[in-house]
Amino acid sequence: MSKYNIIKESEVTDEKLFHNRRKIIKSSIAFSFFTLSNLLFAKTEDLTFKKDLQYSTNEQTNTIKQITSYNNFYELGVGKRDPMLNANKLQTDNWKLSIEGEVENSFVIDVDDLLKKFELEERIYRLRCVEAWSMVIPWIGFELNKIIKLSKPTSKAKYVAFESILDRENLPGQKREILNWPYREGLRIDEAMNPLAIISVGLYGRVLPNQNGSPIRLVVPWKYGFKSIKSIVKIKLVEKQPVCTWNQQTPNEYGFYSNVNPYVSHPRWSQTRERRIGEFRKRDTKMFNGYSKFVSHMYDGMDLKKNF
Ligand code: MTE
Repeated sequence: MSKYNIIKESEVTDEKLFHNRRKIIKSSIAFSFFTLSNLLFAKTEDLTFKKDLQYSTNEQTNTIKQITSYNNFYELGVGKRDPMLNANKLQTDNWKLSIEGEVENSFVIDVDDLLKKFELEERIYRLRCVEAWSMVIPWIGFELNKIIKLSKPTSKAKYVAFESILDRENLPGQKREILNWPYREGLRIDEAMNPLAIISVGLYGRVLPNQNGSPIRLVVPWKYGFKSIKSIVKIKLVEKQPVCTWNQQTPNEYGFYSNVNPYVSHPRWSQTRERRIGEFRKRDTKMFNGYSKFVSHMYDGMDLKKNF
């Protein structure tokens, strides 16, 4: 039996269904025969988690339809709908994550074991993309610092490098060199240890849909969306600032830090405003995406125009 459950699009747009997940799963079985354009693919597994109150926003969350049908995931295509349409091309069975580099305890862990190891939390975070759109997403995950602590970083570990899956055979986007595959990202060690940075394994109470970076992805809510690398296979603690895909691709447009900063324009457009998906009027973009009180201290004394 397929591990994907086919859910009618209209069934998953209703916010009330978030609070009644079991109903979605039951009704999804009944709606298995709709045309492709009306379908969303989502794994059916429910996750057990507690709700976070300290770091979550109480803003209205985007619908699951919006979150799963308007994505950036170049491995699955460059169009916003491609990740949803090609979601089943991402093979997530027996996924392993390797933690290595400047650590005393390097290890490879099966994602199912990873889920058993850490207590999961729901964190409702804003995600602000460099293309000036944003969403509010109820992520499920655990703090990145937990897995880093488990690896016991040495004193040489100054940065954390992340790598996404490389699967040229199955991932349509990797059949061409649109990016220098695999997708790579990096954080400074203090950024990685900040409690806001999470490894997400789900959203809306269920395991991550493939288009959102199944089975594990990073969410760094004070940075532009592209830092939130999807479908991670490797986390490496390193001494030198690591290569990051977009920084390498176009260094004058995308810096290493990539903090949400309305005062630094992208060379081709302003970053002062954003459109929340589902809304018509634009809203002002906040410094650090509104997370200043948790993160601004990490950049004291840095010129954020130079370190963009
Ligand atoms: N991770 C990988 N591996 N490949 C990608 O193309 N796109 C990034 C980021 N992570 C991307 C990625 C960009 S540009 C954004 S805005 C976010 O994922 C989008 O996350 P979402 O589709 O879950 O909203």
